[in-house]
Order: sequence, then structure tokens, then C-alpha cells
Amino acid sequence: MNYMENVTVMDHPLIQHKISILRDKNTGTNEFRRLVEEIAMLEGFEALSDLPLQDVEIETPIETCMTPMIAGRKLAVVPILRAGLGMVSGILALVPSAKVGHIGLYRDEVTHEPHEYYCKLPNPINERTIVVLDPMLATGGSAVDAVSMIKQHGGKNIKFMCIIAAPEGVKRLHEAHPDVQIYVGHMDRQLNEDAYICPGLGDAGDRIFGTK
Ligand code: PRP
Ligand code: URA
Repeated sequence: MNYMENVTVMDHPLIQHKISILRDKNTGTNEFRRLVEEIAMLEGFEALSDLPLQDVEIETPIETCMTPMIAGRKLAVVPILRAGLGMVSGILALVPSAKVGHIGLYRDEVTHEPHEYYCKLPNPINERTIVVLDPMLATGGSAVDAVSMIKQHGGKNIKFMCIIAAPEGVKRLHEAHPDVQIYVGHMDRQLNEDAYICPGLGDAGDRIFGTK
């Protein structure tokens, strides 16, 4: 199984430029937050390119016509708390009527395995396109668990969007959920012994919320 077969790596220069600023340890909380939102929007443009359209009747100043609009009720975005929250506004700027679910997971500092502390999803979720948001795909444990939780609630058409991924995380997510399309802003080199992505950007949650 080729673990990259369901992976779209964004090579747009705007995304790469913004990720480089994110990586800089001197980038402060305000700018970091704004960039995460902008990158999510740019990635969303690609990740949502297959969103279903429905024809609606519109009256132009000239005549009445049937014209396509996004069936917004069909989209759900699900950030993984905390850091995924930073990406939500970027996607909602594109599809304001999307529903938003939340999954709370934190990584154990020693084992690096995720622990669930919250889950609230739109109900029903089975007919929606679901975009899971988390800036960091490191070991992949959080992403795998989040997708499993969504599937347990009936979710079927699931995409995962991150800003930076380690090859280890992409492989683990693809092997656990080969049906999930993965969108990555940049593929980094590897994980270090603390399961942080190298070169990465540090702790995304702390940098978005200014907690360190
Ligand atoms: C970070 C990040 C992901 C997870 C990735 O969250 O936002 O959710 O780690 O690591 P993994 O791929 O090895 O599971 P963290 O658990 O630090 O929680 P936080 O967002 O609340 O800081
Ligand atoms: N979570 C982060 O926020 N950063 C990493 O590099 C790995 C996990």
C-alpha cells in the first residue's frame, strides 16, 4: 500500500510562504493566529473543490435562471482541540453555513498517545462531507482517533486537513483510514524523540493561544 496515494500536498507558493513565517520562533501570537486562518482558507479552497452543488432559481436584473450554489448544509468541519480551532474561521469564511463539531484530544507527554476529553458532533452527520482540522499531524494518533470517533457517529465522507505533517503520521493515518483524503500544507522530515515534528513549528496550540 502506497501511503501517499490519498495525500494532497499543497505546493502553492502562498501557502509555502506563510508556513515559513509560521515556523519562525519570533512570529508572535497575533500573526501566528492570522496565518493559521489564512493557510486553512487557502488549503480549504483545494480540499473543498469537490463540494456538491445544487441548482437554485435566481432572478437577475435581466431574467430568471437556474444557477449552481454550494449545498452548505452538507458540510461539517471538526477541529481537534485545541489547535484545530485556529483553522475553523478560515474554512467558515469559504462556507459560512457549515456546521461545526468539536473533538477534544490531548497527547500524553510520555507515551504521546491521545486521550479524549470532549466530543460533540452535528447530528446526523452521515450525509455530510466532514473536514477534520488540526494544524499538526505528528505521530498520527490524534488524527486516527478523531476519524474513528466520527465514524462511530456515522460519518462516512471524511477529509483530514493539516498544515504540517510528519511522514510517520501520514502513514499511520492512511493505514488506519485508507478512505480518508489527507490535505497537507507541507511534509516535514521526521519526528524527534519527543514526537515533535522537525523542523516543524513547535507546539501549535501554545503558539495559537499564547500559552507558552
Ligand atoms: C497537538 C496537535 C495535534 C496533536 C498531534 O495537540 O494539535 O492534535 O498534538 O500529535 P499526534 O499526531 O502525535 O497525535 P496537543 O495534544 O498538544 O493538544 P493541544 O492542541 O491542546 O495543545
Ligand atoms: N503537536 C504540535 O503542536 N507540534 C508538534 O510538532 C507535534 C505535535
